[in-house]
Amino acid sequence: MPGATRSSTVEWHRAQVTPRLAALAAYQHSLSTPPPPAFSFDPADAEAGRALFAGAARCSECHSGPTFSDGRLHPAAAVGTDPRHAQRSATGLYRATPLRGLWQHPPYFHDGSAATLEDVVRHYDGHLHLGLNDAQVRVLVEYLKSL
Ligand code: HEC
Repeated sequence: MPGATRSSTVEWHRAQVTPRLAALAAYQHSLSTPPPPAFSFDPADAEAGRALFAGAARCSECHSGPTFSDGRLHPAAAVGTDPRHAQRSATGLYRATPLRGLWQHPPYFHDGSAATLEDVVRHYDGHLHLGLNDAQVRVLVEYLKSL
C-alpha cells in the first residue's frame, strides 16, 4: 500500500484479520493437550500434589476449571513477577496462565524467571508465604508435571 498513512494501514490489516479470528479461535480450541510422557512423573506424589494445589498452596484460587485458568486478569504484584511484559498490553495485567502441557515449555512466567517447575513452586512459596516443606514442594511439582 504505497503512500498509505499509518492509520489506514492499521485499518487495512484489521479488515484482513478480524473476519478470520473466529475460525482461528475455533481451531486453537480444538487442539488437544499432549499427555505427559509415560513414567515422567510419580502418580502417587502427583495425587498428593493435587490436594495441595487445591488447598493449602492456594493455586486453584486463580488456576481453576478445565484449563486451570480462571480466565481473569491479575496484577503482576499478585504473583510477584516482572510487570513490564503486562505493561505493554492494553490492560497492564496478566491472565492466569492455563497450565495444561506445562512439562513441554520451560522456562515459566512471562519474564522467564522460573527455569523449572520447582523454581515456580519455590517462587510462590516465598511470594504467598505458604511455608511449604521440601516434601510438599516435591509433590506439587509432580502434580504440575502431570497436567
Ligand atoms: C493470584 C492468582 C494466582 C495464584 C494464587 C497462583 N497463580 Fe500461577 N499464575 C497467575 C498469573 C496471573 C500468572 C501469569 C504471570 C506471569 O506470567 O508473569 C501465573 C503463572 C503461573 C505459571 C507459569 C505458566 C507458564 O506457562 O509460564 C505456573 C506454572 C503457575 N502460575 C503455577 C501456579 C501454582 C503452582 C500456584 C500455587 C502454588 C499458583 N500458580 C498460584 C495467577 C496465580
